[in-house]
Amino acid sequence: MSKLRIVTITSVTKEAAGVTTLRFHDETEARPGQFYMIWMPNVDDIPMSISYNTVEKGITVKEVGDATRALCKLKVQDRIGVRGPFGNGFKIPKGKVLIAGGGTGMASLLPAAEGIGDPGRVDVLIGAKTASELLLLERARRSSNEVHISTDDGSMGKKGTVVEMVQKHLESKRYDIVLGCGPERMLSSLLKVCDKASVECQLSLERYMKCGVGLCGSCVIDGVRVCTEGPVFSSAELRKMKEFGSSKRDECGCAVKL
Ligand SMILES: Cc1cc2nc3c(=O)[nH]c(=O)nc-3n(C[C@H](O)[C@H](O)[C@H](O)COP(=O)(O)OP(=O)(O)OC[C@H]3O[C@@H](n4cnc5c(N)ncnc54)[C@H](O)[C@@H]3O)c2cc1C
Ligand code: FES
Repeated sequence: MSKLRIVTITSVTKEAAGVTTLRFHDETEARPGQFYMIWMPNVDDIPMSISYNTVEKGITVKEVGDATRALCKLKVQDRIGVRGPFGNGFKIPKGKVLIAGGGTGMASLLPAAEGIGDPGRVDVLIGAKTASELLLLERARRSSNEVHISTDDGSMGKKGTVVEMVQKHLESKRYDIVLGCGPERMLSSLLKVCDKASVECQLSLERYMKCGVGLCGSCVIDGVRVCTEGPVFSSAELRKMKEFGSSKRDECGCAVKL
């Protein structure tokens, strides 16, 4: 639904340094992995994954620039504009699911874990640079069988990357699908590890977006619009993308190295 709705913030939760979850009432139905365009008058209109997918929806925002900083300053009773949900979302097959996320990537993955509704089918691997950047751990524990953590500096869980953990899990257990979201270079390594283990994956990409509805072309990767055909792509689709993991487009549409 691309019509703009004005919603009132009902709760504000600080998840970690510079990361805030905003909840608001929105009865629109969404699939896990879809996103909203969030409008703040006189600031910007930006894409945000749906991090809580009940009628009390949520977005989990990491401060990186003007718009995200403005969102993280909002208080209960403040109002924002919401369009969407947009994009395709995850298509979850029957069987065992391995979820692998880095940073705010967990925001789009947890609704998938919760949507499965059977924690016994889901294992979650969460990675971060350091312990203080780990997000949404308790929610992950409630919606899954096992949660494992990795940090680059070893301050919590295993020292190393989430992709290294995925590799170990795929060597020791059978999964029917891997769902992933995080920085694109991490996702590119994740695809290689899944291909090596012959396990299908669906990965959610973040590209620079202006319209969110397939009109402006700013989110295109190898001729495919991430906002409408994605943001979730299958292994087969990702294997065909030459720009995946190597370059992205900036706000002017110029290709820049990742
Ligand atoms: C489908 C989708 C879902 C997203 N979900 C989330 C989410 O759940 N939580 C969250 O915190 N962020 C999410 N993002 C990223 C978020 O939209 C950007 O961080 C935001 O638009 C930056 O706006 P800004 O004005 O704060 O920063 P800007 O000043 O516009 O940019 C600050 C820095 O962030 C980079 N940046 C801007 N937009 C993007 C982008 N789309 N992808 C990668 N880097 C970008 C810029 O190149 C710049 O280096 C998502 C992006 C997409 C495309
Ligand atoms: S953001 Fe405009 S086409 Fe995707």
